[in-house]
Amino acid sequence: MARKTKSIFFTFLLCSWVVVVVAQEVAIAKSESEALGEPELEKRETLEIIIGGGGGGGYPAPSPSPSSPAYCPPPPPKPLSRLEKARRVLLKFKTLIYDPDCYTQSWNENTDTCDFNGVRCATYPNSEEKAVAGLDLNGAKLSTKDGCNLPLTGLVDSIPELTFFHVNSNNFSFTGGFPNNITTFPFFFELDLSNNKVSGQFPTQAIQNNQLVFLDLRFNQLTGPIDPKLFQRDLDVIFVNDNQFTGCLPENFGSTPARYLTFANNRLSGSLPKSLGYAPSLTEVLFLGNHFEGCLPFEIGYLKKVVVFDVSKNLLTGPIPLSFGCLKSIQFLNLAQNKLYGCVPDNLCQIPSIRNNGNLSLADNYFKEIGPSCWSLIKSKVLDVSRNCIPGLPDQKSPKECYQFYKTKKTCPNQNSFYYVPCKSHWGTQSNKPPAPPSEPVTYNALKPHRLRL
Ligand SMILES: *[C@@H]1O[C@H](CO)[C@@H](O)[C@H](O)[C@H]1NC(C)=O
Ligand SMILES: *[C@@H]1O[C@H](CO)[C@@H](O)[C@H](O)[C@H]1NC(C)=O
Ligand SMILES: *[C@@H]1O[C@H](CO)[C@@H](O)[C@H](O)[C@H]1NC(C)=O
Repeated sequence: MARKTKSIFFTFLLCSWVVVVVAQEVAIAKSESEALGEPELEKRETLEIIIGGGGGGGYPAPSPSPSSPAYCPPPPPKPLSRLEKARRVLLKFKTLIYDPDCYTQSWNENTDTCDFNGVRCATYPNSEEKAVAGLDLNGAKLSTKDGCNLPLTGLVDSIPELTFFHVNSNNFSFTGGFPNNITTFPFFFELDLSNNKVSGQFPTQAIQNNQLVFLDLRFNQLTGPIDPKLFQRDLDVIFVNDNQFTGCLPENFGSTPARYLTFANNRLSGSLPKSLGYAPSLTEVLFLGNHFEGCLPFEIGYLKKVVVFDVSKNLLTGPIPLSFGCLKSIQFLNLAQNKLYGCVPDNLCQIPSIRNNGNLSLADNYFKEIGPSCWSLIKSKVLDVSRNCIPGLPDQKSPKECYQFYKTKKTCPNQNSFYYVPCKSHWGTQSNKPPAPPSEPVTYNALKPHRLRL
């Protein structure tokens, strides 16, 4: 049998779905903006996905009629439309669930599929056909009828037109297995399973889809190491905070093109990988509340775009590398509650984005000196050095505790690297015009279990 391979190029125009819900036209989320609460109308982006090959999952080709003149079979039944197939999946799913807030009340015979609560329709690429392009069950608290965890199979894996699946605060789990066929869905780019009952190892299948840009697994019960493949993927947003991940961050960490990363409140250990400094787009990074140890790699000073860097509540030690004075976009730098020591570098306290309403928290460490520029920051409450070992300041550790610590402090390898300044930092002379006031960081909202918008 000859295989016909049609080469089709679909262009699927993806706009901000929140905007287009009303218009009922093509409406798909480019919605890390949704999740991150950025203003939708201003940040509306159009993402064009072009795929090659005939993998669009179209109708089965009509089989050639057998050349028997005597017998004429009845015409085959008309294949179901994409929308009708999805409707059956949704209605079947409804029969399985306990829906305490009646989220799916409108999912019934008298309602158009596209008017089902939480369903977003769009015109399928290169066709006139409507399809279910997204499913938003955020906050619905769904479980099975008998109060157990819901499988993801039979729902998300059965609507191949999906571009996003957002189910924050439900009781989904991998009972029934990982919904493997999402890895082949041609337009699937956002998976939000946050605050569900997902347990087991890092779901490597979840990142096998090349289109995926947004992965939110925060507030689940995932265990074991984070798969290093995560950092090779083209993800823009990775939220895996508040699980029970263990192990070290892999050396390929710096390969990630992601902008927003939250690894907070897990049980990650080992030292921060040096390659971290080479991740090109990092904008906000939350590592707080883990068991990271060792010294701060000077390479972090290469992060030109980083606005939020929070490694508080870990076991980090050693001095702050002078390279940190090169973090030219940093506004929120939180190194509090570690075992850092030495002198707080003066060039860190000179960074304009810190000085202008930023936040530099070094509380609860073992610093014993601060650079001259730091004093005014303490006064303006930008810099917090409480509970350190700095003579002459209130609210410091006792001399005894400081003495004990310094007697047994761990030294860092490659000491010279702490003095390396990979930028020309003449902050003082270039500040004729004040920098823009700091914008609200977005990832801190990920530290609460609810969905990120509203
Ligand atoms: C389902 O999830 C919601 C939201 O997280 C929670 O309030 C509810 O207790 C859960 N139901 C069951 C049966 O676990
Ligand atoms: C996806 O996998 C499920 C098995 O859970 C199967 O029943 C279903 O038909 C598949 N859906 C598609 C669209 O391939
Ligand atoms: C700075 O950040 C710390 C830690 O997140 C916070 O407790 C403190 O309130 C912040 N300070 C200001 C002035 O915003």
